[in-house]
Amino acid sequence: MEKMKILLVGGGGREHAIAQALVKSPHTEKLYCAPGNAGIAQIAECVPIGVMEFDRLIAFAKDNGIGLTVCSQDDPLCAGIVDAFEEAGLRIFGTRKNAAIIEGSKAFSKELMKKYGIPTAQYETFHSADDALAYLETAKLPIVLKADGLALGKGVLICETRQQAMDGVKQIMLDKKFGDAGNALVIEEFMTGREVSALAFVDGSHYSLMSSSQDHKRIGDHDTGLNTGGMGTFSPSPFYTEEIDRLCRERIYQKTVDAMAAEGRPFKGVLYFGLMLTQDGPKVVEYNTRFGDPETQVVLPRLESDLVEIMEACIDGTLEKMDVRFSDNAAVCVVLASGGYPLAYEKGKVITGLDEAAKDKDIYCFHAGTKTDADGNVVTAGGRVLGVTALGKDLVSARAKAYEAARKIRFDGVYMRSDIGRAIDEA
Ligand code: AMP
Ligand code: GLY
Repeated sequence: MEKMKILLVGGGGREHAIAQALVKSPHTEKLYCAPGNAGIAQIAECVPIGVMEFDRLIAFAKDNGIGLTVCSQDDPLCAGIVDAFEEAGLRIFGTRKNAAIIEGSKAFSKELMKKYGIPTAQYETFHSADDALAYLETAKLPIVLKADGLALGKGVLICETRQQAMDGVKQIMLDKKFGDAGNALVIEEFMTGREVSALAFVDGSHYSLMSSSQDHKRIGDHDTGLNTGGMGTFSPSPFYTEEIDRLCRERIYQKTVDAMAAEGRPFKGVLYFGLMLTQDGPKVVEYNTRFGDPETQVVLPRLESDLVEIMEACIDGTLEKMDVRFSDNAAVCVVLASGGYPLAYEKGKVITGLDEAAKDKDIYCFHAGTKTDADGNVVTAGGRVLGVTALGKDLVSARAKAYEAARKIRFDGVYMRSDIGRAIDEA
């Protein structure tokens, strides 16, 4: 493979971790990122083009001789960025629109799992609020409501009471709290068990699993308070045992890849399996058509193989020949958020201590919501500001290092959970 110029689309913590893995590859001549952020700007040239501006991205790729574009964000993938690049004769790593629907429509993914016998929660899909409300009269509680479409990770309501569920149907289907995402609604059985994220590279017919991880979605310690985009992660998950792996390989992973191919929607890119380890075995909570955020911040720093080679193999359908290896170590990522997140928060706070925090080579300060202001200071520019990842020989040492580094970083109103990786002690 020749050296080439690569364009990464996006600008969050996940993209900083992807960028870090891409620049490590000897195949990367130069990395560009659109739009990027202040951290990515230290390792790539950021270009001010938005992720949904396909025409401008394609023009940039053509004008600058880009050999490979990489996209791992749900909105552009579901809107067809891969199809647009391919039609323009450009190489791109990501999922085509007709397969990205596995994340873009929960009604689709539930139907797929039912049709192909992939274990998941029992469910019904509704297209009218009246039908959904009638169903709720006798449904077992608690119960889970899911807006069909993309809703920034906020379209899932876990309802303890019938009244909450009825209010939820009204918000999603009548008030259109999540816009058109609420045109259809999935109502499903509430499952209990530990959650694990399993990400896989997929080339249309084969998959190669990455090391397991676990996210912490709630804002508060002990999983309390509002849902967020993710407040911290660790990898590997000690609960993802060899036995669980065997069951998932037998019942879920290849079956999903085969189902998509059989539906005429061959899946290429990263397939994210959100799993719940229930008493009846592992079940799929959700599929995503991309790397997880902040799962990527603990998974990719542990990847030993060349990410560019893996992505090329996914595009070419030759993944089976690739050796996708992970280090036998562990990683923990602690997210630093703006005070007030996930509700209203202030921006523009000067961030200090970044160099001090990242002095050790085992520490990565992945930027999520940051930018450089007119005076050259790195300032906050989003709810989740940074993800501080530490590598260690095991989870306990990685966690200690991640917290030690995270506490060196300061900005007005900084907030982090203090119990990321608590589950490690229960394993
Ligand atoms: P999702 O947006 O599909 O990832 O759902 C967000 C979170 O809601 C998941 O990570 C789970 O914690 C929870 N969840 C979703 N579906 C169910 C379910 N059927 N039973 C219990 N919890 C669920
Ligand atoms: N961390 C959850 C997600 O990326 O959807």
